[in-house]
Amino acid sequence: MVRHFLRIPDIPRLEAAQLVLRARQLKKGKLRPQILAGKTAAMIFEKSSTRTRVSFEVAVRHLGGYPLFMTQADSQLGRGEPLKDTARVLSRYTDAIIVRTFEQQKLVELAQYAAIPVINALSDSYHPCQVMSDVLTMFENEPDLRGARVAWIGDGNNMCHSLINAAAYFPFTLAVATPEGYEPDAGVVAEAESLGARLEIGHDPEAAAKGARFIHTDVWASMGQESEQAGREAVFAPYQVDARLMALAADNVQFMHCLPAHRGEEVTEEIFESKASIVFDQAENRLHMQKAILEWALQGIDVEEDAVERLVNHIPLS
Ligand code: CP
Ligand code: NVA
Repeated sequence: MVRHFLRIPDIPRLEAAQLVLRARQLKKGKLRPQILAGKTAAMIFEKSSTRTRVSFEVAVRHLGGYPLFMTQADSQLGRGEPLKDTARVLSRYTDAIIVRTFEQQKLVELAQYAAIPVINALSDSYHPCQVMSDVLTMFENEPDLRGARVAWIGDGNNMCHSLINAAAYFPFTLAVATPEGYEPDAGVVAEAESLGARLEIGHDPEAAAKGARFIHTDVWASMGQESEQAGREAVFAPYQVDARLMALAADNVQFMHCLPAHRGEEVTEEIFESKASIVFDQAENRLHMQKAILEWALQGIDVEEDAVERLVNHIPLS
């Protein structure tokens, strides 16, 4: 069986919980199991990236493998070679395909034709590797996530969707506040609710922030939406994470952002640079989580019987 990682709910809950434990173990032990020795990971990036690209390239190296970075511009993808052909060709040379693209459907098609794992490094709809590492970051800061309120303030975008997915697997309550017309996809919300997520979906940033242990936000215009930037600035202005919003949250609230951030837009400079901001810990955890995901995809990881117990029932990570 080929293990693809396209969306969090595509993998069993127990394995998602184990990924968090494993990433933590790799981080604390500074472990570099050579599970990719002699192996190559193709990386197709159709959008810009700093963290995801570098953390995956470094992770592949740390695990003994070779990362092969490709863009549309310098491959035949840019000249229209179909993805399903690229998937089959890369499957003959390499051992995994890490893809950053636009439509989620492209990832689904790649996975359908690839004989090797396909990993979603961000699409218009989801950013699962980022959110898995954000779950690790939240657990590190709040070992008992049961009942913890997590707020998402901003666009109902790829990050928001993956966080909604995560709320179905991990024991926090997620309060989402977006402007009208920028809500998360109703199907994503319904799926998470059917899996047991505790969600509050609304438009009021103050209501979402109230009592929150973590406040997450993201850029107002994602990659591919640059032409909407000016229009979005007006609509999203009331959704800026500032000192007033943070003051409504829990006393020990922490600020999270996947980065890159636009200071003065979705977050003030003051909050971004404050002690409550854990954005660079988030960025670091990308590296540890990428290793866990690569190991899971290429080799499989043993699921400890108590993984869900420990993560879902709130026992501190050790
Ligand atoms: N957070 C994140 O995915 O950053 P990059 O776009 O730099 O990879
Ligand atoms: N929502 C952002 C995330 C960047 C990491 C985007 O898609 O551009």
